[in-house]
Amino acid sequence: MYYGGDYNPEQWPEETWHDDVAKMREAGVTMVSIGIFAWSRIQPAEGVFDWEWLDTVIELLHAGGIAVDLATATASPPPWATSAYPEMLPRDEDGTVFWPGSRQAYAPSSPVYRRLASELVTALVERYAEHPAIVMWHVNNEYGCHLHYDYSDNAMHAFRDWLRAKYSTIDALNAAWGTAFWSQLYTDFEQIVPPRKAPYSRNPAGQLDFKRFTSDTLLELYRMEKRIIRAAGATQPVTTNFMGAFPPADYWRWAAEMDIISDDCYPDPNDPESFRSAAFARDLMRSFKPDVPWILMEQATSALNWRPTNAPKAPGQMAALSMQAVARGADGVLFFQWRQSRAGSEKFHSAMLPQAGTDTRTWREVTALGAALGALPQLPVGARDATVALVFDWQNWWAIDNPDHPTALDYPALVQRWYAAFHRMNVQLDIVHPGAELGRYKAVIAPQLYLLTSVDAANLLSYVEGGGHLLVTAFSDVVDENDAFRDGGYLTQLGEALGIRLEDFGALVAPGAAVATAASAGDSSSSPAAATGPGQVFAPFSSPLGVVTGTLLAEEIHLDGATQLGAFTGGRRDGDAAFTVNRHGDGAAYYLATIPDDAGCALIAEHLVAESGVEPVLAGLPPMVEAIRRGDVVAVINHGAASATVPVPSGVVLGCSELSCPTDDGVLAAREFTLEPFGFVLLDTEVESFQGSAQPWPSIR
Ligand code: GAL
Repeated sequence: MYYGGDYNPEQWPEETWHDDVAKMREAGVTMVSIGIFAWSRIQPAEGVFDWEWLDTVIELLHAGGIAVDLATATASPPPWATSAYPEMLPRDEDGTVFWPGSRQAYAPSSPVYRRLASELVTALVERYAEHPAIVMWHVNNEYGCHLHYDYSDNAMHAFRDWLRAKYSTIDALNAAWGTAFWSQLYTDFEQIVPPRKAPYSRNPAGQLDFKRFTSDTLLELYRMEKRIIRAAGATQPVTTNFMGAFPPADYWRWAAEMDIISDDCYPDPNDPESFRSAAFARDLMRSFKPDVPWILMEQATSALNWRPTNAPKAPGQMAALSMQAVARGADGVLFFQWRQSRAGSEKFHSAMLPQAGTDTRTWREVTALGAALGALPQLPVGARDATVALVFDWQNWWAIDNPDHPTALDYPALVQRWYAAFHRMNVQLDIVHPGAELGRYKAVIAPQLYLLTSVDAANLLSYVEGGGHLLVTAFSDVVDENDAFRDGGYLTQLGEALGIRLEDFGALVAPGAAVATAASAGDSSSSPAAATGPGQVFAPFSSPLGVVTGTLLAEEIHLDGATQLGAFTGGRRDGDAAFTVNRHGDGAAYYLATIPDDAGCALIAEHLVAESGVEPVLAGLPPMVEAIRRGDVVAVINHGAASATVPVPSGVVLGCSELSCPTDDGVLAAREFTLEPFGFVLLDTEVESFQGSAQPWPSIR
């Protein structure tokens, strides 16, 4: 179990480094990430390297028994580089330059940036490849974080090359992009520019390819550095830190290139529900590489600096969120950063060692968490615990984000709405690519799969045929990989298995949109209103478990073998099918012709859980408490600011918060007990007696 954080000794004098190592030991730190933003310190001029300080820091850490995750330092080119080679600077879609003076001022496709980064990494790795302190390589930092897309000439030339490699001929590109529309026919790849600012809507297939190109380009940078690391003979695992469901990088493709998945996650303490989106991110990380524990590479001990208002974490909340990551498969809990900066943009960002010193709640919580994590036994990998899968696909996200659709949809938010519905029931989910092996899941939820390739469609169909329960929701199976319709209407691939035909998407007014809905509503007195006029906002429908509020779309579907489970009540689709099921092969294919709100997703999720025989990790928990399984280990965590009484199974306590330790001798018989606010307990449910050392479990406060 790694414990530690980003360590930026270049911001401090050498005396402080000694104090740092001593305090790291006190806090139970086992690994730090160093050098992430140290390019200008390591290489003060082209061809000139200053290793002395880094040698000293690494030696000090090593002598202190602290392992090093050594960053390649390529995330922020120094001023000498951007002054000498201004052509490496990125530009936005209007052509405006992103100037240096912050961080990440480089165009990912820039040949100069690549050369300079390669020279730096080559020198760094040659020096430290075999240093015993180095246990991991941290390539760059949060690729694409601030600059999602670069539209500079660097990008233009690289995009053309990428398109040449993909299509070979310009005719093939024209066919894929549908350039007969609006006189967009190209006669040469050299005529193509990135989707820069244009008079009106830009070619959707072109935009989709530009997003693919961007993801591939960033990944290419990672690969370039990884190749250099391996060429120098370094054998340590290599990673770069992900950022949850991050728009510009198709992490399904990236994950294969990571030896270890690592993630940065900053749930907002001001949002009491943010522990659910954190849970989603953690399940996503585990799902990328289920057989290899991942690392929470960055989180905050308390407040941030970059939201409009930055609340501190509540007492115990940092440990609760850390245990959430561990329970969802992490074998490392690290922070941004070790010592709070004295200067710079992030000086108000909390750290393990606060500016206010060690007589602080943060420091006490940091040392307690270090002790608790250090005392945990090796945990099971827990790769195969979920029986429900939620489909999430970047390519589909990019296509949905194109404009000019019946209605604008926030794909990741809608996926997370389904996630939250199952999370509230404590049903464990894996997040999967639509082409993933699905056979082991009892149910698969596939929200808004607008872009569905034939390979992925075949995969979903064979899952149903083999006995699975598949839920497909509105605006699915609409276009192919070029964002173009297929012959034969909509739902051309899944329609038969679903036993329905789709005629029209029936866009509704987005809830909260500023339009005169009341006047046009047929029945504005009851909520949710099923408006009949042009301003219809909600499309309520009956479900096996009650009335569900549909939003955004009320599709016109026709039964073609399916059984109707629910019909729209009121509005322009009054009486028409809204929710259907079709027995197909040995399984069942469900279709929802609208997009339920939170409560509606909960009802549908409950129905599916009952129909497919899915069990929650623990039933009957209060809303702010979650239960998570990692192999035989079960964690019960209270994310609420009030105490909560919960039922727990029998087992041996592996860790708990101070006021939430339910037993004195480490062994717990199944019973109810009270979790304090942000209290947690981690249990091994298979071991019957405690087999550890004198202190059976470390408690945290
Ligand atoms: C991350 C970044 C860190 C630090 C942190 C602040 O995005 O990797 O360097 O800036 O945010 O929350």
